[in-house]
Amino acid sequence: MPTWDMLLVNGHVATMRAESPDPYGTIRDGCVAVRDGRIAWVGRRVDLPPGEAVERVDMRGGWVTPGLIDCHTHLVFGGDRIREFEQRLLGATYEELARAGGGILSTVRATRAASRDELLAGARARLADLSAAGVTTVEIKSGYGLDVDTELRMLDVGRALGEATGLRVVTTLLGAHALPPEYASRREAYVDLICQEMIPRAAEESLADAVDAFLEEIAFTADECDRVFDAAASMGLPVRLHADQRTDGGGAALAARHGARSADHLEYTSEAGVEALAAAGTVAVLLPGAAYFLRDARVPPVEAFRRHGVPMAVATDLNPGSSPLRSPLMAMNMACTLFRLTPAEALAGMTRTAARVLGLENRVGVVEESFGADLAVWDISHPAALSYWMGGNPCRFVVRVGTLVPGGR
Ligand code: NIG
Ligand code: FE
Repeated sequence: MPTWDMLLVNGHVATMRAESPDPYGTIRDGCVAVRDGRIAWVGRRVDLPPGEAVERVDMRGGWVTPGLIDCHTHLVFGGDRIREFEQRLLGATYEELARAGGGILSTVRATRAASRDELLAGARARLADLSAAGVTTVEIKSGYGLDVDTELRMLDVGRALGEATGLRVVTTLLGAHALPPEYASRREAYVDLICQEMIPRAAEESLADAVDAFLEEIAFTADECDRVFDAAASMGLPVRLHADQRTDGGGAALAARHGARSADHLEYTSEAGVEALAAAGTVAVLLPGAAYFLRDARVPPVEAFRRHGVPMAVATDLNPGSSPLRSPLMAMNMACTLFRLTPAEALAGMTRTAARVLGLENRVGVVEESFGADLAVWDISHPAALSYWMGGNPCRFVVRVGTLVPGGR
């Protein structure tokens, strides 16, 4: 009987293990052996124990990294917001469009009108782009339904995408994304609906792995987010928060108070907010695609995150309104160029730290024995190249749960 199902040879390994002498956990001329969908061995080729593999994968002098993890997307939606992009270029702001019933609500109309198959097909094409560029795990939020049926349908489409493609999909209920028009004068009743129906049903039907909310002047207040998070906790679901994106609403502190897995965006977070995240062990998820696309001049307090030891993840925030970004590598490039992360921080942010946001830190995100065999093989001369190039796609293969799938190269 062969020793391994797959053996990757003739390349270098960026393990991304935290406790490594260099930030990539580099093993030059390394091998990775896979068995039963897990990493069975990783190390230098000269130390490889004797054994046989069913499939040998020649890395042709390139690199293998953990499969990328996009821990914040709104991948499932109807329609697009191309017209609003044009309007913003003619002078309208994101907030003006939102207050005039466009913005998130225009995607809500298109999403409610779309059939399950239409939602699935649109999302599947976008997911194919992510997968071709090395993504093996993706988080998908609801939040464009804003009624019980459409929110649950979005989550169900997320689950179906995982089954249809073999990617690991983690779903998040974002009922508190915007106030739907039919509740315009009944805010409290909508928050009741989220707490008393959406969250319990999403939990009971195992459709959501976490609950998110949007704390912002154009979205929900701190008290409303508190209620949503208390309801999530009562159903045993972890929470995350869209926080301090356009204004400092005290979002980081609120997320920390609830022991949130992550606080996301954080352009306007204060030093006190950073300290609160550090004390709670909450991850900062940086979304440079949204900052770029909305031309936000504010940069998240990256230096303070480093100083206080707040782990930083990086994600695409793929959505039709504020970040139509279908490339994880461009997200890493923007994290470096706009937010001044190092390329190693950007890669850790899309692997090891992103796994932690999704509660998968013991299963994926590093190349380590017994972890899931979710890997990406790249035609690159150094792992910093993943953040360096703008456009192009050096991904030759991904390995998903031990199965080889072609990349975009
Ligand atoms: O993460 N911040 C709120 N939600 C999305 C934007 C959604 C939209 O505009 O459709 C975001 O940026
Ligand atoms: Fe988002």
